[in-house]
Order: sequence, then C-alpha cells, then structure tokens
Amino acid sequence: MAVDLLLGLQWGDEGKGKIVDVLTQNYDIVARFQGGPNAGHTLEFDGIKHVLRTIPSGIFHSKTINLIGNGVVIDPVVFVKELEGLDKFNIDYKSKLFISRKAHVILPTHRLLDAASEASKGKAKIGSTLKGIGPTYMDKTGRNGLRIGDLEMPNWEKNYRALAEKHLGLIDFYDVDVQFDLDEMEEEFFTAVETLKTLTFIDSEEYLHQAQKAGKSILAEGAQGSLLDIDFGTYPFVTSSNTTAAGACTGLGIAPNKVKEVYGIFKAYTTRVGSGPFPTELFDQVGEKMAKIGNEFGAVTGRPRRCGWLDLVALKYAVAVNGVTQLMMMKGDVLSGFKTLKVCTAYKYKGETINHLPFNIEPEYVTPVYIEMKGWKEDLTKIKETDKFPKELNDYIDFLEKELEVPIKLVSVGPDRTQTIHR
Ligand code: GDP
Ligand code: IMO
Ligand code: MG
Repeated sequence: MAVDLLLGLQWGDEGKGKIVDVLTQNYDIVARFQGGPNAGHTLEFDGIKHVLRTIPSGIFHSKTINLIGNGVVIDPVVFVKELEGLDKFNIDYKSKLFISRKAHVILPTHRLLDAASEASKGKAKIGSTLKGIGPTYMDKTGRNGLRIGDLEMPNWEKNYRALAEKHLGLIDFYDVDVQFDLDEMEEEFFTAVETLKTLTFIDSEEYLHQAQKAGKSILAEGAQGSLLDIDFGTYPFVTSSNTTAAGACTGLGIAPNKVKEVYGIFKAYTTRVGSGPFPTELFDQVGEKMAKIGNEFGAVTGRPRRCGWLDLVALKYAVAVNGVTQLMMMKGDVLSGFKTLKVCTAYKYKGETINHLPFNIEPEYVTPVYIEMKGWKEDLTKIKETDKFPKELNDYIDFLEKELEVPIKLVSVGPDRTQTIHR
C-alpha cells in the first residue's frame, strides 16, 4: 500500500490541519513527520474549533492510528497541554497515539536559547515562534540531543542536566537580557515527562514498515510550508526542518518509491507570519481586507499574518520541489467581493523578467509582475458543488491549473470540515 503526503506549499498556515481531518477517513494511519509546537493546525467541526501543535490532525477519528515520527521535535510541556485539550472532548488517545523513540525532546533551555538567539539578532531576528525549534534541531544535527527513547532509560536525567548546563553557558555567551525561572520551568518539564511516559513509545520506522506490508494506508502530515524549508525556503528566514516531500521520507523512515500522491495545499492568496522576504506582500487596504476577512492571526503566537496576492513563481517552485500530484486551494471564500484579483506570474529581477525563484527575493532585487483577473461577488461559504461556482472563480482555478500544470482537486470555502468541495 502506498503512502500519501500532505504538504503546505507557501509559508505555512495553508489549512493543513483542516484537510488532514477531512482526508483521515480514507487512511489507517496519519503520521506527522517534522516540526514541533511551532505548528498550529486548526480543525473545525460540530461548531468547535481545535488547534493541534504536535499531535497529528487525524486524532478525532476513532479508527485511525496517529503517529508522531522521528523527524518531529516534542516539548513535553506543550504536549501535555494538547492532551488536556483532547481530554475535554473525551478523545481516547491512549490506544491510538504513538510516538517515535527517535523523536527529539525540546528542553526548557532550548526555549530560552531560542529567545536569546532572537534577542541577539535585533532587527534581523527570524521571528521564531520561540518554541525552541531551532536549538533542538541544532542539538539533533550536532549529535547532542535527548530523544524520546532516552526517557525510558535509567539516568536520563544525568544527560538532561549535562545538556541543560551546556545551554546555560550558551545563554551567558549571548549576553542578552532573557529573564527566566529555571526551577519553575524544570518542575513543569519533569512533571510533563511523567505524563508523556504514560503514552506508547514505538520504533516507528519498523511500525510503519510492517503497516505497509500489511496493506495499511498512510497519510503523512507536514507542518509549516515549503518556503520555510531549511534547504529550499527563504533562508535564513525559515524553520529548522525539511518541510518538503523528502522530509516525509527522513522524518518517518518511508522509502521514496513508496510515496504515491503528494497533496499540495495553498491559499488562494498568500500569507506569512514572522520576518523574511515576501514579494507579493500588500501594505495597503487590500491587504488589510484579506487579513480581516481571512482572520489572519497566527494559531500559535496570535501574531497578525502578513497578506498578499498569490505568487505563482513561488508556487511553481514548491510544486516542483515536492512533486505535487494534486492541488488543494484553500480560503477561496476570503476573496469574495474583491473587484479585481492579481496573480504574480513573473518577477522583474536585475532588469530581466524571470519565471523561477532566484537565490535572493528581497524587495531590492525582485519586483512582482502581475496579471489581473475579474473577482467574484458571491459568498462561497454555503456552496456544496462545483457547478454552483461563480464563473470568475472557475476562471481563476482554470488559470492556476494551466500555469501550475497540476489539477486542483479540492476547493475549501470555509474553516468547517463540511465546507470542502472535491472536484
Ligand atoms: P495549518 O497550519 O496549515 O493547519 O493552518 P492554520 O490552522 O494555522 O490556519 C488556517 C486557518 O484558516 C485556520 O484558522 C482555519 O480554521 C482556517 N481555514 C481553513 N480553511 C479555510 C477556508 O477554506 N476558508 C476560511 N475562511 N478559513 C479556512
Ligand atoms: P504551521 O504548521 C506559519 C515561522 C515562524 C518564523 C519561522 C521560524 O502551523 O503551518 P520557528 O519557530 O520554526 O523557529 O520559526 O517560521 N513558522 C510558521 N509560520 N506556520 C507555521 O506552522 C510555522 N512554523 C514556524 O513564524 O517566521
Ligand atoms: Mg498553522
């Protein structure tokens, strides 16, 4: 049985959580492969909104196994809060939520290091979510990290202490003002670790290998988006993991030749939270209108998301890097009532018109080239079938499909599970 991947194609917050929830009924296993509590994946059904951070978005379906892969970084403190959120809805996660022993643990001092690193950068800061993501992946690649499986070993606290002490030295080195009460943070951390240990830790690559042999269907859930990928994103304003398709292979132990569908999700416009270049960003009332109608505030930090027109140069790049086989267009409803829609089809770069994403997309190098399309007035949020789509929406979709050379198989017209139209 093949493995399908679901990935964000922009700068995150495309609506991955909603669509994983919608697709889960077709899968035996949903597995997160990278990122950590920097993610905020929102699901809405039965009038209730849930935000998941580390736990896969298939958790609300009783028959599906949810797995947190080796590529993920887990903060026990945040994780336990997520579990408490599920407890309120009597979700039986104990029997269906498994964690890879090879996933790395975010220490309280990783969070402090994140804050110190950001403070030391001043205006050049990444705009990190301050969840300790960068420092934890640094310890992973630096071969110093603490893993979930270590928590089952005697004396893991000794290794914890050695790593935490090292971090405190580094925080001193940064020489910035970071206030903290480590005793309090550690008390919370050690209590959370005990709760975490009541869940099932597994050798997840072996589990997934056996599941594939047994013909189980697997959906890999990405976090963040392609333009935040550590290699292919707008470096250094990126996250610290591979958010693109290859990350699903390394983050779960899935062989590339087992991957079948690659679902690429994008918003009908573009948003970005945190720092970094964003060629189609709008600084006017049009951008403000998108932010307002789209309710563009970060699910993790509450920060306002920067908004702009759809960028086909960046989207084509993401489609190529991921090998997207099916596209899903989110938040089409937000564009209702815009008289004219703009789509960026090329960049002016050093006096030339180019169609690919160059090394540097800072505003001093890149000016977007737009085409204009007629917008639609109709409210899309109650539409159930494609034949009720306004003509201008069909034109928009047809144009994008032609440019991207991949079919748009799903259109989302609202945050709720039911506001999803398959094409
Ligand atoms: P994720 O990180 O990719 O899972 O996305 P987020 O949950 O951070 O952000 C997406 C936001 O848009 C959430 O508040 C969703 O409830 C909401 N959303 C998802 N799809 C749609 C849609 O089609 N229309 C509207 N209006 N909102 C949507
Ligand atoms: P989901 O999965 C949007 C952004 C941060 C910052 C940069 C680095 O909900 O789409 P980090 O904390 O990873 O060191 O921050 O990446 N960022 C996200 N933006 N959605 C996310 O996740 C993000 N996760 C990180 O704002 O610019
Ligand atoms: Mg999000």
